[in-house]
Amino acid sequence: MTTLLFVGDIVGEAGLAYLEERLPRLRAEHQPDFVIANAENMEITRHPGSMGHCGLSPQGVARLFALGVDAITGGNHSWDGPYFQTVYDDPRVIRPLNYSTAAPGQGALVLEKDGLRLGVINVASRTALRWADEPLAAFDAQVAAWGTSVDRVLVDFHGESVSEKLTFAYAVDGRAAAVLGTHTHVQTNDMRVLPQGTAYVSDVGMTGPGEGMQGYAPELFVETMRARLPGSSPFAFASGPVECGAVVVRCEGSRAVAIERIPG
Ligand SMILES: [Fe+2]
Ligand SMILES: [Fe+2]
Repeated sequence: MTTLLFVGDIVGEAGLAYLEERLPRLRAEHQPDFVIANAENMEITRHPGSMGHCGLSPQGVARLFALGVDAITGGNHSWDGPYFQTVYDDPRVIRPLNYSTAAPGQGALVLEKDGLRLGVINVASRTALRWADEPLAAFDAQVAAWGTSVDRVLVDFHGESVSEKLTFAYAVDGRAAAVLGTHTHVQTNDMRVLPQGTAYVSDVGMTGPGEGMQGYAPELFVETMRARLPGSSPFAFASGPVECGAVVVRCEGSRAVAIERIPG
């Protein structure tokens, strides 16, 4: 039996601090062999010329690795802010595979523990990441390149559309132990194992403050919608109790046999 713990989009200091407090207990309770976390919303970066205002920081990445997280995934915010050149120096931090070869970072990695090799692939859809390439073709090529050198494959599929995530999951059913959706920050209640043994959820949900919009303060977005012009309120994290967006996947051989959400 192999157990995988996956944490959805960690939002801000609140999400990170929550995980620092909670992960040791989750580890004791679920005994995961591997822990993978999506951390594309770790920081508000606001870097001039950046693709967006979110992203990862070297300090936050170091805190996750100090916690025992084995790999960090991303999405449309993987190249936000001033830090990405540094962040991808560590091969344990990956970004969407199906993107420009000119973009820093790798889209897949292999984790090895006690003789077990877990391939981790991060892909994004165009609904989340403009100019992304076809995610299924990228998956097919990566899995073919790995061949028999990996024992299990976990996919973080970063996208907006449930039908796109489900279509992808059925297309790779039996070739990935898990296809776990990220990006919307809203956990869906459709955890299941597909017929050939791929554990699936449309969105794992975020690990971040629950009172605003996807972990962010709503004022700026409301102003912008109302005026249809850029608002003047700060782009800030939300407040309130932290939601826990995380799932545990259990595998026998290369097939998943169960997926369950971690209660908040
Ligand atoms: Fe996100
Ligand atoms: Fe995203």
